[in-house]
Amino acid sequence: MASVVSWLITGASRGLGLELARQLASTSNNIVLAACRNPSSASHLHALKPAEGAELHIVQLDVSSEESIRTSVATVEAVLNGRGLDYLYNNAGICPRDDAFDFSYDELLASLQTNVAAPALLGQLYAPLLEKGTRRTIVNVSSALGRFSRDSGAAVATYSVSKTAVNMLTFKQAKARPDFIVIALAPGWVKTDMGGAEAGLEPSQSVAGQLRVVLALRKQDSGKFLSYDGQELPW
Ligand SMILES: NC(=O)c1ccc[n+]([C@@H]2O[C@H](COP(=O)([O-])OP(=O)(O)OC[C@H]3O[C@@H](n4cnc5c(N)ncnc54)[C@H](OP(=O)(O)O)[C@@H]3O)[C@@H](O)[C@H]2O)c1
Repeated sequence: MASVVSWLITGASRGLGLELARQLASTSNNIVLAACRNPSSASHLHALKPAEGAELHIVQLDVSSEESIRTSVATVEAVLNGRGLDYLYNNAGICPRDDAFDFSYDELLASLQTNVAAPALLGQLYAPLLEKGTRRTIVNVSSALGRFSRDSGAAVATYSVSKTAVNMLTFKQAKARPDFIVIALAPGWVKTDMGGAEAGLEPSQSVAGQLRVVLALRKQDSGKFLSYDGQELPW
């Protein structure tokens, strides 16, 4: 019998996080902890029906709140009931539309808090549960907009800054914990509220690719920036 695999997905109320929860919960032996800041209004998440042998648990988690992040650990621990956490999937993100000379200071701080500080603190606080898991994997969802090696223009400046920072966080986490696998993952340009209707990928395509990449990860992949289609991206 295949062994049970546990996943904590942040930002699972809609978009890519919801699709991750959907695809993971459709595979038996997965325990999916789908985290969202407002469980009471996460109707699409509540509508998901896990496959036989899979479990779906909805966990309250506002990643912009240190207290909520800290509180979530005990909740997740209780659900796992002695098991470790195999995958921490830092998916939640925000993307203000701005440029480097026309931005809101509050939105800049909020982007850094949600897109960088949250994955950092989640990594730190969930490390003991990850140690108890068999996969010991952290996926930091990043973006091609966080790359230096590609001219991304002037748009979405604070978001791009935050994604470059989460790339460096990934590199540092991988160096600090050689017993973990930590990657930054670019999901492609996807039709979600964030990606918009013009995007080239459906959430189902991006997530299928992301999960193929994540499930095939090996120790030597730790510290890399990977695309949903398996390519390694230059920083
Ligand atoms: N879509 C793209 O083309 C694209 C491209 C590159 C990278 N990405 C990255 O992929 C990830 C998912 O993006 P998406 O396209 O699915 O975006 P989305 O459709 O805007 O969904 C964002 C998700 O993050 C959640 N979230 C935001 N702030 C949160 C907080 N403080 N606490 C908990 N959850 C929070 C939202 O929850 P609420 O419903 O509560 O707001 C929502 O579930 C992000 O990290 C994004 O940067 C997306």
